[in-house]
Amino acid sequence: MRVTIFGTGYVGLVTGACLAEVGNEVTCVDVDAGKIARLEAGEVPIFEPGLEVLVRDNRAAGRLRFTTSAAAGIAGAQLIFIAVGTPPDEDGSADLSHVLAVAHTIGAELAEPVVVVNKSTVPVGTADRVRATITAALAERGAAIAFDVASNPEFLKEGDAVKDCMRPDRIIIGSDSAQAVARLRALYAPFNRNHDRIVVMDVRSAELTKYAANAMLATKISFMNEIAAIAEQVGADVEQVRLGIGSDPRIGYHFIYPGAGYGGSCFPKDVKALEHTARSHGAEPRLLAAVEAVNAAQKQRLFALLQQHLGDLAGRTIAVWGLAFKPNTDDMREAPSRTLLERLWSAGARVNAYDPEAAHEVRRLYGERSDLALCPDAYAALDGADALVVVTEWKAFRSPDFERIRRTLRTSVVVDGRNIFDPAAVEAAGLAYYGIGRGRSVRRPD
Ligand code: UDX
Repeated sequence: MRVTIFGTGYVGLVTGACLAEVGNEVTCVDVDAGKIARLEAGEVPIFEPGLEVLVRDNRAAGRLRFTTSAAAGIAGAQLIFIAVGTPPDEDGSADLSHVLAVAHTIGAELAEPVVVVNKSTVPVGTADRVRATITAALAERGAAIAFDVASNPEFLKEGDAVKDCMRPDRIIIGSDSAQAVARLRALYAPFNRNHDRIVVMDVRSAELTKYAANAMLATKISFMNEIAAIAEQVGADVEQVRLGIGSDPRIGYHFIYPGAGYGGSCFPKDVKALEHTARSHGAEPRLLAAVEAVNAAQKQRLFALLQQHLGDLAGRTIAVWGLAFKPNTDDMREAPSRTLLERLWSAGARVNAYDPEAAHEVRRLYGERSDLALCPDAYAALDGADALVVVTEWKAFRSPDFERIRRTLRTSVVVDGRNIFDPAAVEAAGLAYYGIGRGRSVRRPD
């Protein structure tokens, strides 16, 4: 099939590469000429396992093209995906200007019938607005061309995006057009193996499904972070509690890891956007507001633990392992590390940080500064540092040499923001251990 995708961010690029991989002719369109030039030169602008090979091979095979020309993308396309960003507006609502700009371009350029598919995470009712925008643009030039608008939200996880796209656990198609559903079913047939993963529903339900999924996952995390706070106070270990509740299949082991708070491009933005949608339709989203508030507090937790152990942090140096919002990505959007770094700097502390992938993003965000050293490896970050904080649970951090950590740090303390260490092993090496909800921070530091 001839498929065009507007937007070469995470979603657009991964979707385009995977659709090309199974034999479609895919054109990716982006207004960012620099990005398109890099992609044309075979350079993938994001770190995502497996993506570079997929882009390179499919470009070489002639199935994947990149262009800044919307007209070239629209001409001859059977399916047009909209996968552009929906950043939050100041009030937390999703900014639809990019989505609607693409819809207008489609209406201005369309020459033959097409199915337009919203893949961007968009508030309920956006498909109607896309339809109206295309219709108006067609009317402006006196054209009458049939088109459908469907909703097909993505559920990709950064770091696993290629795998999630190639082997999705569900494919949601929101459409009231049998023809559009048939075309999307055919497109997704290569990914719909073993059992039928396609769920067809009305457009609005599909739009809400995406928000509900992310809000539910964010709720699980905030719930566990709240239980962790209780465990801390009562002297229980939330890691034991996690295993105890996860064994109930109705609860499950997934997404109940307490930590430094959720970050990334989806959860913070989508929880706020859903709250906004609810309010603007007269509903009172009490739970969502609490999920968000718990997360905001959780992002302060690591700073509070450091302060508790070290007192005044002015003039201290803190070693930070992991900066990306989660492992296997270089993405720093809403990363808990940012809250920690900014609080440390305003308290007058210095940061020695190491992340396997995100250093360049941190440099882009914060520039060169005298109170930030981006170190070449994890142990280098310990030199001259008073404490070690683990913010992102990269695999390489899981079994460190605790003796070496104790010998190198000026003050023997480890703050484990992801509960990846065995507290007994850390303490056996002569280090004080603080985790999240492990009943330890209520002790007096020795
Ligand atoms: C998420 C959804 O999982 C995905 O389906 C959707 O399409 C986009 O948003 P992503 O943002 O890539 O994906 O990351 P995810 O792996 O879901 O993690 C989100 C955040 O939650 C991270 O900051 C992670 O550290 C945190 N998290 C996750 C926890 O703190 N505890 C957990 O148990 C799970």
